[in-house]
Amino acid sequence: MKTPDVWKTRLFDCLSVPTLILKPNRVVVDVNTNFLEKFRCNKKDVVGKTCHDFFYNSVEPCPLETCALAKVLADRRGHSDLRYTTTNAGLEKWDNRVFSPILDDAGEVQYVVECIHDVTQLKLLERELSGAKEFTQKLIESSTTAIIAADLQGKILTMNPAAEELTGYSLKEAHERITTKDLYPPGQAKKIMKILRDESLGGKGKLHLSTFTIVNAQGEEIPVELTAAIIYEGDQEAATVGLFNDLRDKLKQDEAMGELRRRIYRAEKMASLGHLAAGVAHEINNPLTGIIFYSDSLLQTLAPDDPRRRSLACIYEDAKRCGKIIKNLLAYSRQETPSEEILHVNTLLEHSLDLIRDRKFFMGIQIRKELSDEIMLIKGDRDQLGQVIVNLVMNAVDAMDHEGTLTLRTYRNKAAQKVYIEVADTGWGIPESDLPLIFDPFFTTKAPGKGTGLGLSTAYGIIKENQGRIWVKETSPSGTTFAVELPLYLPSGRGNNQP
Ligand SMILES: Nc1ncnc2c1ncn2[C@@H]1O[C@H](COP(=O)(O)OP(=O)(O)OP(=O)(O)O)[C@@H](O)[C@H]1O
Ligand SMILES: [Mg+2]
Repeated sequence: MKTPDVWKTRLFDCLSVPTLILKPNRVVVDVNTNFLEKFRCNKKDVVGKTCHDFFYNSVEPCPLETCALAKVLADRRGHSDLRYTTTNAGLEKWDNRVFSPILDDAGEVQYVVECIHDVTQLKLLERELSGAKEFTQKLIESSTTAIIAADLQGKILTMNPAAEELTGYSLKEAHERITTKDLYPPGQAKKIMKILRDESLGGKGKLHLSTFTIVNAQGEEIPVELTAAIIYEGDQEAATVGLFNDLRDKLKQDEAMGELRRRIYRAEKMASLGHLAAGVAHEINNPLTGIIFYSDSLLQTLAPDDPRRRSLACIYEDAKRCGKIIKNLLAYSRQETPSEEILHVNTLLEHSLDLIRDRKFFMGIQIRKELSDEIMLIKGDRDQLGQVIVNLVMNAVDAMDHEGTLTLRTYRNKAAQKVYIEVADTGWGIPESDLPLIFDPFFTTKAPGKGTGLGLSTAYGIIKENQGRIWVKETSPSGTTFAVELPLYLPSGRGNNQP
């Protein structure tokens, strides 16, 4: 049977951490085997010395505020401190020193046991982790993609500055005031979660690039490109993360590109059709004049009850219809060199109205003129510009079906040196799907024989040649307004209709 002291020594030695026993005056009374191995010393090198002498080669004890032993002596409880040192080889070392008091019967500290835990690996790992965490944090913060993470109840856990800008909420406001549901139109958050949980839609927990709408703090709907994922802890869903890219600029650019493409297409189509039209029109015009002349002459010679009259009348009418098409084609191809006259816009408008001699055409239509009485001069070809107005007026009247108001408006912007002509009707409007097509040659919604679809494309070409613009200013089922902008001619020669 061993004596209890032998057990104590064995117990002391079997501790797997270097351990010392100190007196309250900091003198070492014993160390365990593990200590001797770790510090590569003999007992005589350490026992009898103070801890500060052994560890730090110092005659003075460590400062009170950093010395855990001093705290143990003060309150007779266990304390620890973390010591950072560098080895002779320059390696970093962290020790967590745990001090525990051994009290006598009177409750006074008789000895202090100091266990030295080497936590260097842990500290290095911690540093690596916090470095990685810091890097990830910086990555998230500097990302121009908005990143929002939320728990499963939709409570916002974090969002980066790009997300703050996109949503209009600061991180604090988002934490306190909203959930992810508030960031979407009704029902959309639920739909996203459903897709995320559906394995057949891009894999479980994943939402690949999709287009959605979010609602910002001001209630505006913003189109976004969204990628989202569920964050799992083991098998359990823990949170969600969404990456949002604002699509507003991209959509604007796409729209501008689309418009540009449409314009190029229209210009190309107009140019090639112009050449073709001019050639064909000239070739057909002569024989057509003959058909009209001879069918008319023949008609005059036939008796009123002659059965051939009907067929002949058809030939005559159809030939005249072809003549109208040829006339439009020739106007469209505009082979003649335009003249350059100084024109008063209001006079041009009045003359153009006079060109539509058939008063029956305006039957049931009230004409309202809102013409500016300022002097508005423009430079251009009277016939061509007149033709633009005639077509706008005829289109407006056609859209009203003998009931409504036709408004003709002129005004100018002297500072911008522009003149404006507006033709407004109270007709049925232009459907949104037709809007990109109306200036295309041969686009017409009118019955066969009624429209050739060349009016607006001809007008477009003429106005463009005159450094102007023509566009649909307004259209709805209660009417349409076409606007034409032309350079104001200034007699001093400062007009911007100079090339
Ligand atoms: N004021 C308007 N209201 C409603 N639709 C219009 C109006 N102006 C033009 N449109 C639409 O634009 C189409 C093209 O007009 P455009 O003047 O080029 O040809 P058109 O009038 O059909 O034929 P054309 O002018 O050659 O006789 C029309 O068929 C019509 O659908
Ligand atoms: Mg027309």
